[in-house]
Amino acid sequence: MSYRVAVVGATGAVGREMLKTLHERNFPVRELAVLASGRSAGTKVSFGEKLVLTVQNLDTFDFRGWDIGLFSPGAAVSAIHAPRAAEAGCIVIDNTSQFRMEPDVPLVVPEVNPQALAKIRRGIIANPNCSTIQMVVALKPLHDRFKIKRVVVATYQSVSGAGKEGMDELFSQTKASFVNDPAKPEVFTKTIAFNCIPHIDKFMDDGSTKEEWKMVVETRKILDPDIKIVATCVRVPVFIGHAEAINVEFERPVTVAEARAALREAPGVAVFDQREDGGYITPIDCVGEDATYVSRLRKDPTVEHGLSMWVVSDNLRKGAALNAVQIAETLIAQGLLAKRAA
Ligand SMILES: NC(=O)c1ccc[n+]([C@@H]2O[C@H](COP(=O)([O-])OP(=O)(O)OC[C@H]3O[C@@H](n4cnc5c(N)ncnc54)[C@H](OP(=O)(O)O)[C@@H]3O)[C@@H](O)[C@H]2O)c1
Repeated sequence: MSYRVAVVGATGAVGREMLKTLHERNFPVRELAVLASGRSAGTKVSFGEKLVLTVQNLDTFDFRGWDIGLFSPGAAVSAIHAPRAAEAGCIVIDNTSQFRMEPDVPLVVPEVNPQALAKIRRGIIANPNCSTIQMVVALKPLHDRFKIKRVVVATYQSVSGAGKEGMDELFSQTKASFVNDPAKPEVFTKTIAFNCIPHIDKFMDDGSTKEEWKMVVETRKILDPDIKIVATCVRVPVFIGHAEAINVEFERPVTVAEARAALREAPGVAVFDQREDGGYITPIDCVGEDATYVSRLRKDPTVEHGLSMWVVSDNLRKGAALNAVQIAETLIAQGLLAKRAA
């Protein structure tokens, strides 16, 4: 069985990774449409080494007869076109923040809550925020065994989380710094080259940022509404790969050895923790990889049952494209797309 797949936002950082992921995983594609704004309609993107596709304008695209829409055109654009696609019978898997917290939209990480897909009502499924995805993949096996009470997380997020323009800004500011050219911030609020910015997305009334708020509410929706979480989200001058320093407090006793064993068995997790020079994963190491890596696992002696860990993953891959494609694969495995395909 194969499917007609539309990739929306195909010229962007996530969209390009989406095409790469579909190809690498041999997703059963019968026909592929690549869509973006009128600005890039008519340009070409490649799918694998042999196929070059012409970008079509989302505004005029008819979704009737298309099985799956993998969306990453930004929240305001998804708000208009995802419901239009769903009404035409195309199942939308949306990477933007637009629908994540709507009660009738499943928010899914296949290793964590695949059962939520059964609650699909509006033909839209939401992909969580990139920082949330890698955190819940690592927390899930620990929550199942030791029950999490509280999480304190600080993120170190790469510029690709702000799309292709974020990557261009780090590149141009880095180059400019070598010729003493003043680096004017445009995408980010301050200079990102050789700097760290404790501000991602807009400020909320309580002084937190929306990125921090997303990590809290999305984790509760996916994993457990009773978990207490506080996040500090920081943009760092790294092109791809988000890192997170996470402190977790549990209800039940936990040893490092037990936690390591639970993480080793967990789907999507790779433990690399050698307690020696270089014996941990950094963002550069995880680029192009599917796993969520856990390193620096150790006891947090400041609480009764606590652990600290360092969690790293490719934000464009597990944080976006891979998770979306895995949702599509899970829909197929659960028979939710079977009726419509050829
Ligand atoms: N980057 C990440 O790590 C990440 C992770 C999870 C979720 N997301 C979310 O995914 C979305 C896209 O992120 P990105 O990083 O891929 O951004 P990006 O690199 O800036 O790409 C944006 C894409 O959306 C398209 N687009 C913009 N306006 C459009 C319109 N009016 N109609 C149709 N297409 C339009 C762009 O097409 P043009 O070439 O025509 O402009 C481009 O293909 C955002 O909502 C982001 O929050 C990103």
